[in-house]
Amino acid sequence: MRKQIVAGNWKMNTTPAEGVKLAKELVALEGSLNNVSLIIAPPYTHLSMIQDVIGKSSIALSSQNCADEVKGAYTGEVSASMLASIGTEYVILGHSERRQYYSETSETLNKKMALAYANGLTPIYCVGENKEEREAGRHFDVCRKQIEEVVYNLTEEQFDTLVVAYEPIWAIGTGLTASSDQAQEIHAFIREVLTSKFGAKAENTSILYGGSCKPGNAQEIFSKKDVDGGLIGGAALVAEDFVAIAKSF
Ligand code: PGA
Repeated sequence: MRKQIVAGNWKMNTTPAEGVKLAKELVALEGSLNNVSLIIAPPYTHLSMIQDVIGKSSIALSSQNCADEVKGAYTGEVSASMLASIGTEYVILGHSERRQYYSETSETLNKKMALAYANGLTPIYCVGENKEEREAGRHFDVCRKQIEEVVYNLTEEQFDTLVVAYEPIWAIGTGLTASSDQAQEIHAFIREVLTSKFGAKAENTSILYGGSCKPGNAQEIFSKKDVDGGLIGGAALVAEDFVAIAKSF
């Protein structure tokens, strides 16, 4: 059975005090959820404080990134071991905003993935095409390449825990979403690409949809066979909306 997951990517939003408040609201609401794992990814500055808030709940902590080096003279970076040491369980890697604005390549991501696993963090690995690529019908090739160049380097054991997120760039923060059929089509394709390398294990991989997922459209998208939850940006900043999405299975 695949895990159903709803993960909130807060991006560069909220002050620490606002983040703590949001986390407390989520803890108060999470008792109403069945069979869905909630993950939240606040900014680095909030992680410790928020871990104190969610520590006894079933909400798991994620970071939005980690360094591609172990330690040392890398100004401004935060290592996977630092994140693990404060109770972080997941790390979002390969988000399109990181690929686009911070020039993250498959080479960087391979290093980050290895360090994440070495420190016991579970990656949420993001793939997805931009508008031009979708319009040119290249979305399958783009996603396949992003998986082959990084996920194919994992050991079988590492692959067992990996979470994948499909996030069409044209749908992120734009109010546009992939239709549920578009989502199912590419999620099934991603699972096929994973199956080519890892066989039947890919049946157990949670593949999340991301891109303007909201309480109003989550149910339709999550109803699809190969959609195992969502990676939520904007709507993760409002506790009631995030929990409503998590109730949409
Ligand atoms: P969005 O962001 O829900 O605001 O579109 C999704 C994401 O980038 O994770």
